[in-house]
Parts: sequence; structure tokens; C-alpha cells
Amino acid sequence: MFRLLTGGLRKPKNRVLGGDISGRVEAVGSGVTQLKEGDEVFGCARAGLAEYVLAREKNLVKKPGNVGFDEAAAMPVAGITALQGLRKGGIMAGQKVLIYGSSGGVGTFAVQIAKAFGAEVTAVCGPNHMDGARSLGADHVVDYNSEDVTKSGEKYDLILAVNGFRSIFAFRRALAPEGVYVFVGSSKIWRALLTNLLLGPLISRLGKRKMSFMGIAKIKQDDLLYLAGLLESGKVKPLISKRYPLAEAAEAFRQIGDGHAGGKVVVTV
Ligand SMILES: NC(=O)c1ccc[n+]([C@@H]2O[C@H](COP(=O)([O-])OP(=O)(O)OC[C@H]3O[C@@H](n4cnc5c(N)ncnc54)[C@H](OP(=O)(O)O)[C@@H]3O)[C@@H](O)[C@H]2O)c1
Repeated sequence: MFRLLTGGLRKPKNRVLGGDISGRVEAVGSGVTQLKEGDEVFGCARAGLAEYVLAREKNLVKKPGNVGFDEAAAMPVAGITALQGLRKGGIMAGQKVLIYGSSGGVGTFAVQIAKAFGAEVTAVCGPNHMDGARSLGADHVVDYNSEDVTKSGEKYDLILAVNGFRSIFAFRRALAPEGVYVFVGSSKIWRALLTNLLLGPLISRLGKRKMSFMGIAKIKQDDLLYLAGLLESGKVKPLISKRYPLAEAAEAFRQIGDGHAGGKVVVTV
């Protein structure tokens, strides 16, 4: 869905895809002050599926030494989205947090980041990814096929709706009296945006439960630094479901496209 908003309407804006990168700095421009040749970095760039990539200094940070290039490359956009979504929801230690869509790119980071904040995390995913969610530290794991988490009677202080498979009303039902719901994205973009942008603010006026949309994640160096810290401390470890060589990048996109990637898919060069 966000491809339409950010990647071009009728055809891709950039002919070479790939927004997340990690590698070694080959050369720097004259205005660059924080990085030098040979530094190992990760972050965001355009046309990242390549051997050489041009990136802005403000979109990169140094890669922790204890983390591989593949793991670091798995993190930027999905990690930033999870972090900004949880912050939008005002995440705090001790809160009960529900991550709906916990086994995709964004969700696997959201579970770990929420745990790093000290939250009690319930992860909702499909049956094949429940063990993965537990390995990421989720306190409770629910299979969306066998249980409707919005009808369990459990109430959450923060719900991060990573996908649009449930309605805004269903999520409202599962919110604590002053809870916050944050919508991240959906494959049914227009319907999801209409409900969340139009209905969300209206429904939020009916009480203290807040229904919000996080907007499009913004690449911020401070957030990349924060994520680098989580990687370095081991509090977050990217869950890579598969690695593809550059020649098979199209296959990597197909795997993501089926909506059950089970973490991040990485293309190695
Ligand atoms: N706001 C932003 O700036 C921003 C940034 C990045 C991404 N996004 C959006 O965020 C969304 C998620 O991205 P992602 O990369 O994490 O997606 P993804 O990897 O495709 O993950 C999808 C998640 O949805 C679950 N799912 C699949 N079918 C389901 C169903 N029928 N009922 C309930 N859950 C189901 C999957 O679980 P199983 O695989 O276990 O079945 C998985 O946990 C996308 O819509 C993307 O466009 C937004």
C-alpha cells in the first residue's frame, strides 16, 4: 500500500529498488563530517539493491561491530516504523501492549522494541510464526485463526495495528479505558486510510480511548542511532526469514508480497 504513496503511482519512481542498506563507506563527499572511508554503516538510501549506493550522511549511522551487515540492513525502515508507531502510542514500561501482525517486518521489531521499553507484550500472528514470536520475547502469543483477541475480554493500553485485517471498532473494543490504538498500515490502503483518518478522530471524541494513524514513518538519524543502540545491546535482533543473492532479488519481493514473510527478507550482495 505504501508503495503507492511513496514509490510512484503508475510505475516505480526509482528504477532500482531497495531502501534499506548496510555496507562499508567507499568514499565521502566534501560536506561529510560524521563518517569516513571504511566505516561500516547502515540506514536508508535510494536504489539500495546494488553493489554501490549513494546515501545521505543524515540517513546513515555506524553499524555496531557485533551485528552483521545482513542484520543491520534488515532494520532501518521496519525498525523505525515500529519505533515511531510505539512512540506515537505513548509506550511506557508496565503497559499491556498488543501487536497485531507481529510476525512481519514491522511486527517482529515492534514486539522486541515494546519489550525493550518494559511493556507486557501480546503478539498476534499466524500459526506458523508463533514460536518465532515467543523467541522474540512476546509474553503472550495468539494465533489470529483460532482466537479473536478483540473478544477475549483482555484490555490493552496500547494496540499497534500493523495490518488492516481487523476493523477500527474491533480494536477499540480491546482498548483499556484510556488506551491508545495506532494504525500502521494495510494492504487495503484506501479503505483503511478512510476509516482510520476519518473515523479515528471522530470515534476518539466519544471517550478517552484514542484511535490514531502513525502517518508515514520518517527516517531520522536519531531514531537510527536509537535502533543501533538496541542492536548493540542485544535487546533487538532482526529476525531474518530468508537471504537471497542479488540475482534473485525478484524472488525476495515475491516472498514479501505473499504477506507471510515471517520476519525480514534480506538481499545480500
Ligand atoms: N506507516 C508507515 O510508514 C509504514 C512503514 C512500513 C510499512 N508499513 C505498512 O505496514 C504493514 C505491515 O508491513 P510488514 O512489512 O510488517 O508486513 P508483512 O511483513 O507482510 O506482515 C504482515 C503481518 O500480517 C499478518 N497477517 C497476514 N494475514 C493475516 C490475517 N488474515 N489476519 C491477521 N494477520 C494477518 C502476518 O502474519 P503471518 O505471516 O504470521 O500469517 C504478519 O504478521 C504494510 O501494510 C506496510 O505497507 C507502513
